[in-house]
Amino acid sequence: MLKVAIIVGTRPEAIKMAPIAIEAGRRRGIKPVLILTAQHRKMCDDVFEIFKLKPDHDLDIMKPRQSLFEVTARLVRKLEKVLAAETPDIVLVQGDTTSTFVGSLCSYYLKIPVGHVEAGLRTYRKYSPFPEEINRKLTSALSDLHFAPTATARDSLLSEGVPRRRISVVGHPVIDALLHVASRRYRFASEQLAGIDFKRNKVIAVTAHRRESWGESFEGMMRALREIVRRHSDALVVFPVHPNPNVRGTVKKILAGAERVVLVDPLDYRDFVKLLKSCSFIITDSGGIQEEAPSLGKPVLLMREVTERPEAVKAGAVKIVGTDTRRIVSAATELLKSEKAYRKMIVKKNPYGDGHAAEKIMDTIAGRLGEVERP
Ligand code: UD1
Ligand code: UDP
Repeated sequence: MLKVAIIVGTRPEAIKMAPIAIEAGRRRGIKPVLILTAQHRKMCDDVFEIFKLKPDHDLDIMKPRQSLFEVTARLVRKLEKVLAAETPDIVLVQGDTTSTFVGSLCSYYLKIPVGHVEAGLRTYRKYSPFPEEINRKLTSALSDLHFAPTATARDSLLSEGVPRRRISVVGHPVIDALLHVASRRYRFASEQLAGIDFKRNKVIAVTAHRRESWGESFEGMMRALREIVRRHSDALVVFPVHPNPNVRGTVKKILAGAERVVLVDPLDYRDFVKLLKSCSFIITDSGGIQEEAPSLGKPVLLMREVTERPEAVKAGAVKIVGTDTRRIVSAATELLKSEKAYRKMIVKKNPYGDGHAAEKIMDTIAGRLGEVERP
């Protein structure tokens, strides 16, 4: 029996690891151990419920208004215990959160091999995104098997000296999760969303949460949203607001009560995917949404200065608009007014994969784990 521990901390990790946990559970000879750090509480619980997953260990670390220091310290203490007790054959971590980095660090201290899902994403800007760029670089340094979603990600790892035989280009498991949810007929559970007329309004789905934008840039982003609906009477913003209090405060300050701006609590993944399918386009700073939107044929305006996901930009599905109010308003106006500009952003093929990443990851683990360096 190969014991595969899967660490999940935040909402995007839960969504992206769900297909892998399900695939591991299906395979004979593999025993998955699902470790939920619960760096995010409700947002992870919601995802686990949708994918019918139950954690084997729930470290329950989230505290309101947690700092990076507190999260890191709590993770180190709790992950040491659970990993030392389980002694898995490999630990899988995903992406670039603090749970990801500390999960790989603790595994290394215990001399347990690490597999990194979504490996090789880079901006090469230390503080953008913060702290994710450094989290993923540190995770790469600690990993033994690197599951790169694309050839670009593989090339970044190669350029940093990661041996080719340790890298597998497998696509992105977020597409596995998305296709699983998007293929089912579904009615909105949220009453607020069920009440929206998606035919009469051009609905713009919005999310924003990045730490490096907090403060002035974030206020500029929120003012842009207010200005877009003020200028365009057919536009309606639907904005599930991230629970981080630093985000919520600014969103409420600038957008509460604005006409044709619908602020809702974070949506569960089924509702959110339906919102993406039903909207006209998306304005976001999210990582995962840049990967999902091309599969649904929805243009993305990205409120960031750089992205570690250049494939979707190159394909034309994502446009970087930064955090400046005027630039965001002007890009949204173009999509609202020009059918040609809108159509240009709908791509045929999603560069992030075909929905079979989880299988490829489990095949690689079964085939290559024996080759990784041992102490
Ligand atoms: C975290 C990740 C970020 C990722 C994002 C995805 C780090 C440092 N940051 O940012 O990389 O892109 O998740 O969403 O790893 N909260 C709740 N309920 C929840 C979840 C969060 O109330 O279910 C609130 C709590 O007050 C919590 C705060 O949000 O203290 C911040 O959570 P945290 O995980 O530290 O940072 P995020 O900004 O969510
Ligand atoms: N998402 C969701 N509900 C929401 C907003 C986002 O389920 O209200 C999903 C989204 O489809 C994507 C993931 O959460 O898969 C992105 O998470 P987030 O933006 O918090 O993190 P990031 O991807 O930026 O790390």
